[in-house]
Amino acid sequence: MAAAASVLLVLTAAVLLLLVEGGEPPYSCGPRSPSSGYAFCDARLPPARRAADLVSRLTAAEKVAQLGDEAGGVARLGVPPYKWWSEGLHGLSYWGHGMHFNGAVTAITSFPQAIGTEARALYNLGQAEGLTIWSPNVNIYRDPRWGRGQETPGEDPTTASKYAVAFVKGLQGSTPGTLQTSACCKHATAYDLEEWNGVARYNFNAKVTAQDLADTFNPPFKSCVVDAKASCVMCAYTDINGVPACASSDLLSKTFRGQWGLDGYVSSDCDAVALLRDAQRYAPTPEDTVAVAIKAGLDLNCGNYTQVHGMAALQQGKMRESDVDRALTNLFAVRMRLGHFDGDPRSNAAYGHLGAADVCTQAHRDLALEAAQDGIVLLKNDAGALPLDRATVTSSFLNGIGVKDSEKEDNASARGGRNF
Ligand SMILES: *[C@@H]1O[C@H](CO)[C@@H](O)[C@H](O)[C@H]1NC(C)=O
Ligand SMILES: *[C@@H]1O[C@H](CO)[C@@H](O)[C@H](O)[C@H]1NC(C)=O
Repeated sequence: MAAAASVLLVLTAAVLLLLVEGGEPPYSCGPRSPSSGYAFCDARLPPARRAADLVSRLTAAEKVAQLGDEAGGVARLGVPPYKWWSEGLHGLSYWGHGMHFNGAVTAITSFPQAIGTEARALYNLGQAEGLTIWSPNVNIYRDPRWGRGQETPGEDPTTASKYAVAFVKGLQGSTPGTLQTSACCKHATAYDLEEWNGVARYNFNAKVTAQDLADTFNPPFKSCVVDAKASCVMCAYTDINGVPACASSDLLSKTFRGQWGLDGYVSSDCDAVALLRDAQRYAPTPEDTVAVAIKAGLDLNCGNYTQVHGMAALQQGKMRESDVDRALTNLFAVRMRLGHFDGDPRSNAAYGHLGAADVCTQAHRDLALEAAQDGIVLLKNDAGALPLDRATVTSSFLNGIGVKDSEKEDNASARGGRNF
């Protein structure tokens, strides 16, 4: 028994190594695929049409398995598993499940143009299991005591909107018809309070007027979708006037998709669907909870709650298979636009050539330096303390984000660390 278990362990480890370090990017279709004759493999067709064709070939169980950030593969159709969750706010991050830094590339640069290019390079090298990046964070940040403000562009809706557009365009690239990577604007909306004064983000009820939503909190998200054509919006944990964002059809269906014309998918923040029930008591059973989110317009759940309870929700008639089909069509259409169903991505005309030599280039380092220099804010300079006088200052103390006390932590922080 023990011997068998250890053999199994070794085999599993070998397969994992192959997946991660084998230098082969995951993809569907192409000449050797069992599906090469199907419409979903036909790159000449529109992504939504291809996605609908693929969805029509799946069983209900296969469909439900697609509803979480770690989506199952469909071997009989040559579709590999997919990791939706990658982070790239300050350069690609190991946080999330999609990116790995244990192959030809072990470190990366910051800032949007570099992030998109470097993600493609990682993918071509077989070090990425997805190209859907859950950045930028464009929440309006009104009070420094609310937490996690260093991720956002600040308190001004116009600045946040412009930042959002530049960030999304940098990530998604400018090749018509093909996404370099998929950007996701988060966390919609009126989500500014991480943890403060005994109130946590999981059960905070933001009481916000329609005017304040329109003037203050929604503009960055609207710019993301309308001006930058972001292919994802993430709904927040927050309740907005008593309705959890991820259960709000007003927000997800009417506003994002209806008014703004979102062409892409809506993801939940991580475990937000489970929290609808566990923290917010919004629906009576897990099945009702999954159904209320999917029917509101949610396409993907970060976490496995929809995968675990989705079949029962269907069987109990809480939601219909057509609700799941809508979600899956939105999801697969984005993967189609990323080129994941066009055969080997290394033959992609726009991005197939990118590799290790395109990571941490001098141009990317210069961009990172410029952005860091432009991002410095001096709040006050009492008694003319700056610039420091070399003659009188003999030692200094640095503190804050990215400053760590060991080389190992410093490396972690350089790779995005916890500040994604
Ligand atoms: C779902 O996720 C939770 C938390 O990560 C984990 O403990 C559980 O085993 C998962 N369940 C399934 C069926 O994958
Ligand atoms: C930190 O990164 C440098 C450069 O990539 C590497 O040489 C060093 O071994 C790393 N240190 C640790 C503790 O991981």
